[in-house]
Amino acid sequence: MYGKFAEIYARGEYPRFSAAAAGLLPPVLRQFKMKPRTVLDVACGEGTFAVAMAKNGHPVTGVDQSREMLRLARMRARTEGVRVRFLRRDMRSLSFREEFDLATCWYDSLNYLLRQEDLERTFRGVRRALKEGGFFIFDMNNEHALSVVWQRNPSNVQQDDAETFEVHRPSWDPKRRIATLRITGFIRSGKMWTRIDEEHRERAYGLPKIRRCLRNAGLRELAVWGSIRDMTPVRPGNGRVWIVAQKS
Ligand SMILES: C[S@@+](CC[C@H](N)C(=O)[O-])C[C@H]1O[C@@H](n2cnc3c(N)ncnc32)[C@H](O)[C@@H]1O
Repeated sequence: MYGKFAEIYARGEYPRFSAAAAGLLPPVLRQFKMKPRTVLDVACGEGTFAVAMAKNGHPVTGVDQSREMLRLARMRARTEGVRVRFLRRDMRSLSFREEFDLATCWYDSLNYLLRQEDLERTFRGVRRALKEGGFFIFDMNNEHALSVVWQRNPSNVQQDDAETFEVHRPSWDPKRRIATLRITGFIRSGKMWTRIDEEHRERAYGLPKIRRCLRNAGLRELAVWGSIRDMTPVRPGNGRVWIVAQKS
């Protein structure tokens, strides 16, 4: 996952998500009187959020499992003229010497964890990485997103321009609550097109399960929203939950 596809990801609309998250964060920080200095971005991908936070003056560490995403992230930081520490890490086994004020995990990265024990293990790692009183803010796709929104069409063309072509073919396993996206992409270099095939799987976790994992990991829930922009409760039709938690 996120091998050659990283390039297609970076060329697409995807990085807009965490760019928006960076813009929406300040009111959330104010709401909880958070004044974080150090930031850990878990599953940082190609670095859009980490770089935005570094530009705002925060010392930032970004971790991801994908070498390719990290390569693009380092390039982005270099181009934007900021220092960010990017490390290749599996989010299921986070361990750092230092502790952070704020941890984030954006754009349904946690849905990639297909086993509940992995979700809990990740939360435990985040807790270990935080200072006492530190905050963890993240989003996850819910069942509505994965079983309804993703499944509306048997195939979706995501990108189609002179350099890039990308198509998704989704399916849903109701027993395991896992959505699979078969992704086929083409990247042009000169007259040649390179084909890329990847299979991405995301699991839907109900709120009670997420809450249990947070509790077991020692993270206290401060807010659960269906919209981080409006900070409103989850309503039917919201495809995503946004959660603010604290190490306590
Ligand atoms: C949808 S992308 C989101 C990237 C970034 N957070 C953003 O908002 O653009 C999901 C990311 O999760 C990462 N990821 C998936 N499983 C992971 C794991 N076990 N440990 C670390 N990163 C993981 C992938 O490599 C990918 O970069």
